[in-house]
Amino acid sequence: MYKNQFPIFQNEKFNYLDTAASAQKPQAVIDEMVLFYQTKYANVHRGSCSLATTATLAYEEARKTIARFINASENQVVFTKSATEGLNLIANGYIDLLREGDEILVSIAEHHANFVSWQQTALKTGAKFITFDILDNGEINMEDFEKKLSEKTKVVAITQLSNVLGIVNPIHKICQKSHQVGAKVVVDAAQSISHTSVDVQDLDCDFLVFSGHKLYGPTGIGILYGKEDALALLPPYQYGGDMVESVFVDKTVFKKSPYKFEAGTPAFVEAIGLKKAVEFVESVSFGVIEKHEKELTLYLMKELEKIKEVKILAPNIKKTGIVSFVVQDIHPSDIAFILAQQKICIREGHHCAMPLHLRLGQEVSLRASLGIYNEKEDIDAFIEALKKSISFFKR
Ligand code: ALA
Repeated sequence: MYKNQFPIFQNEKFNYLDTAASAQKPQAVIDEMVLFYQTKYANVHRGSCSLATTATLAYEEARKTIARFINASENQVVFTKSATEGLNLIANGYIDLLREGDEILVSIAEHHANFVSWQQTALKTGAKFITFDILDNGEINMEDFEKKLSEKTKVVAITQLSNVLGIVNPIHKICQKSHQVGAKVVVDAAQSISHTSVDVQDLDCDFLVFSGHKLYGPTGIGILYGKEDALALLPPYQYGGDMVESVFVDKTVFKKSPYKFEAGTPAFVEAIGLKKAVEFVESVSFGVIEKHEKELTLYLMKELEKIKEVKILAPNIKKTGIVSFVVQDIHPSDIAFILAQQKICIREGHHCAMPLHLRLGQEVSLRASLGIYNEKEDIDAFIEALKKSISFFKR
């Protein structure tokens, strides 16, 4: 229903079922960035000419819009390059905060960005890296989580919506339990941010990250949200211009958050593009997005289940926009190759979640994922092409 607002679909006919990897961009976002480069461009927080002032105001306006979007305040919103950079920033900062005997609790369903970064912090600090499990239906195993959570736990790292399983996790409950033992909670909202309304105050998480490109915005821009006390604990991630109050030969005084974490010229045109993407999503509304994607996901699962060779990973009617599956006796790469020839875009591989695939007993899988531009006919074309691919390999 919103396909006509995405120019890529006007240029060539193909079925894009890979929004979990990156979402396509509406014309409004592209126009906003082009207009900015053509008429308003100058560096932010530096010059005093009217172009520079306008650019600074637009950049800070983007921060305000994004803060409102996730129910945060402006000083809690740091612009990063991506969700991955946000997670690395936090995990890297914790190298100074953790010591031997401390524990980091991470769900087995994490994307490598929220898994490897903490694993490496554990290796560097001597803290213990502990994983908690999921149930066979893909939901978090709360019993296992609570069993492993203790006074030693300093950080809990969890995705709000797994990029493989497609199920929204009970973040509020995880935060409640974690805060009871004094642990901070780091939420990876890279996938959830485009499918459901994210309210950081309601979730009560200490940190939350997402990328612009999965929210119909540009690449190269991401958001790190942190509660004031949580951000204040972290040292700067990079050093350079714009993040300092004063510099002397023997010491440097850093600015407060969010500027302490924004060294160098930021990706301000991308930030302004992301603001436009947020406005686009708000104009559609999460009520409409959730209903549309829920119906399509259920339809996708129902159609996949009709194919006897297909096995959905962690089947669950609660899936939101993401369905991963395997095909009996046929390697996912072979299926993806044949689908690509029929202009069906899906992802195959471990989707940057190797520990989760091992837990599910699979090396790799295929993944179909949805965005607001997808329609029932995209799924019909995909299912038709999938059936053809299966018959081709079974011949
Ligand atoms: N993290 C993205 C995905 O799951 C790239 O495909």
